[in-house]
Amino acid sequence: MDTPASGSSHAKIILIGEHSVVYHQPAIALPLPAVRESVTIARREDGIQQLISRYYTGARQAGPSQLAGINQLIDDLLVRFNVPNIGFDLTINSHLPAERGMGSSAATAVAIIRALYRFLNQPLSHEQLLADANISEKIIHGNPSGIDVATASATNPIWFITGTQPISIPFHLHGYLVVADTGVHGQTGLAVKAVASLREREPQVAETAIKGLGQLTYAAKSALANDHLTELGTIFDRAQHFLKQLGVSHPRLDEMITVANRNGALGAKLTGGGMGGCMICLAPDEATATQIRLALANQGVTQSWVQPLKSEENKS
Ligand code: MEV
Repeated sequence: MDTPASGSSHAKIILIGEHSVVYHQPAIALPLPAVRESVTIARREDGIQQLISRYYTGARQAGPSQLAGINQLIDDLLVRFNVPNIGFDLTINSHLPAERGMGSSAATAVAIIRALYRFLNQPLSHEQLLADANISEKIIHGNPSGIDVATASATNPIWFITGTQPISIPFHLHGYLVVADTGVHGQTGLAVKAVASLREREPQVAETAIKGLGQLTYAAKSALANDHLTELGTIFDRAQHFLKQLGVSHPRLDEMITVANRNGALGAKLTGGGMGGCMICLAPDEATATQIRLALANQGVTQSWVQPLKSEENKS
């Protein structure tokens, strides 16, 4: 407790299965180890619990409402370990864009939990990490499937079904994923609610899309296992069609998807909650990935990343 402690995590990308995963369909997600987040906690003797981050610096309890999930998580852990009034500086260092479907809230929760358990000299199992991170995710997203937290703490791509252990599915494909930011804040909580309300208003439409996304996710798993890139691209396009039917796309996403597909992408879709956030598309080689990024930049996209479609070991 007297020495500073730190914890880290990373961004995630949902390859396929966002939204349908909330309704017990499978999803495939991959960690983006290059886009990292870290948290350091150092003891203060004056009893103040201060948060230091790019969005807010000050007493954590007086922070903006976006911190409600994190505050609840920290409160629960401090009470659990009998140190509710201990003073500290908690510094969040993040390279993840917030609210872009890259799992920023889950990554923050995972890094805080790892740092706090180390700070308090408590052992932490993987199961406990997932359970604790869902305390804040529930407040932020309402009905989280748990996939963001599972991927923020994973070292390999995962096959995820809510309520079961994530299964690691390392893959080595001859393709590249381009991730591009719309610049529009995604709204995962709102998007999850919009799908729930569509299920009530138009159950047939919603169920067809949700089941369709589930089937495409099984097909994607097989395409990944067999290095069938072109097929995976077609699966992306079909998934985007269902996601649009669920009402979670955004005009900017639609525009960027068209640009990507016109510039050599094998397929493109939104990733994460949608209604803004990020787009992903599949490129057959690095030169095409570069061409897509340039074409997107010409359309005003300021942030994009390239990720080879293979697993990378990530240490945290
Ligand atoms: C958000 O990254 C993924 C969603 O499926 C919500 C969730 O699974 O909790 C939209």
